Amino acid sequence: MNTTTYSIEQANRFIKEKEEEVKNTKYRLGYHIAAPTGWINDPNGLVFFRGEYHVFYQYYPYEAEWGPMHWGHAKSKDLINWEALPVALAPEFDYEKGGCFSGSAVVFQDKLYLIYTGHNEEKNPKEVQCIAVSEDGIHFRKSESNPVIPSPPEDGSEDFRDPKVSFRDGKWHMVVGSGKDGKGKVLTFTSQDLETWHYEGVLLESDGEQGTMWECPDLFTIGEYDVLIFSPMEMEGSKTRYVIGKIDEQNKFNPINNDEIDFGPDFYAPQTFEDNKGRRLLISWMNMWKKEMPEKEDGWAGALTIPRELSIKDQKLIMTVPEEFKELRGNLLENSKGILQHDKMVKPLRNLCIEVHANISLKETDAEVIGLEVVSELEERFFIGYNRSYGNLIVDRTKMKKGDKDKVEVQYKKDNNINFEMYFDTSSVELFVDEGEKVLSHRIYFAGEHLNIRNLSANGMTDYHDLKIWQLNI
Ligand code: FRU
Repeated sequence: MNTTTYSIEQANRFIKEKEEEVKNTKYRLGYHIAAPTGWINDPNGLVFFRGEYHVFYQYYPYEAEWGPMHWGHAKSKDLINWEALPVALAPEFDYEKGGCFSGSAVVFQDKLYLIYTGHNEEKNPKEVQCIAVSEDGIHFRKSESNPVIPSPPEDGSEDFRDPKVSFRDGKWHMVVGSGKDGKGKVLTFTSQDLETWHYEGVLLESDGEQGTMWECPDLFTIGEYDVLIFSPMEMEGSKTRYVIGKIDEQNKFNPINNDEIDFGPDFYAPQTFEDNKGRRLLISWMNMWKKEMPEKEDGWAGALTIPRELSIKDQKLIMTVPEEFKELRGNLLENSKGILQHDKMVKPLRNLCIEVHANISLKETDAEVIGLEVVSELEERFFIGYNRSYGNLIVDRTKMKKGDKDKVEVQYKKDNNINFEMYFDTSSVELFVDEGEKVLSHRIYFAGEHLNIRNLSANGMTDYHDLKIWQLNI
């Protein structure tokens, strides 16, 4: 019996009424998934199903604020053009009264299954694992056996959420985020049928320095390595982590290397999946908790990153932009090589949907701080660049009028060359340095209407091997 006031029908009706109002507002993104109206956070249930990419997301349609979570839904044939689909899950039952929290999707016997956390603050335990199934990939029926995991194991705590399921060695494997006694951890379960689950133990836990609760774990393999990603709560200086290593016979994860996944401030709760080309793709929420999000004034809040293709190089996780994104390239606004003095290249922009490639020779360059800056008629300035003396990547929002005003600096020593790829989309920029060695995601909100992009070479010049700016067709 439905015990809440929410339903899928009601949510879909509400979205239909409101989506036009939201559609062409100032900060609306061109090629990213965003809320049709209302609030979104984590990507959920990423899956390739019957020839199409499906993305679900944590969703509250009724306000541009977090509320009892539904699952929104979109699909795509090419990772760029996304078709909005009806809401997939609404919190209807007692076990999920506070929301259908994050989870994953799998294809089993040609049906699409969603595995998610039922959340209800008023209950003990407050978090349980549930499933829903669909024949057509659009309409989902919740299992009569829900919750299929009705309580956390001894090793866990009441924080017990975000199941990610994958198939390996003839079984379904689930990783679930938890934390106990101040230590974040990942718990594992196995199943043959997705309904009956056996607890298998702790895969990995914090050494005491890596956060109190590990949200949104995801486990997968790339080549010879096992990779675990998670979003730790209360970890000093860190939001999303990867660990590369090997799982042993006792089902323990033995780490070889670990680091931040994305060094930008607007990146949290990423999830991955494999497509029909064998690529491991990652999509993340392109925001973070407790942020200003100026798009709220227009009735929506939150977006997802572009999908990124994962690989491992020198035991580090690398993220690059899938080749499909070349399709977006329109007019070449700038195409040059050679020396640029400070403030020399200045290009007016029709809008902020552009791709920038800047390949710089550091040997010939004499300016200490180099990079590119987007400026508006209101004297807003947004800068992406590199400090040669300190060996620091810089993304600077301190001269912006809206949104967060911070400056991120990431240690990155380079001597010969540095290569920037920037994907701007109206109110976001995703920066890929040296083919994904370092990645930084930011939301940026210009109050001004007239934007220019220009070269910045503090007290000197920059030697570009190659500088290209494309207008993106969206
Ligand atoms: C991560 C998270 C998840 C939870 C969801 C709720 O951002 O806190 O742990 O399932 O968001 O919306």
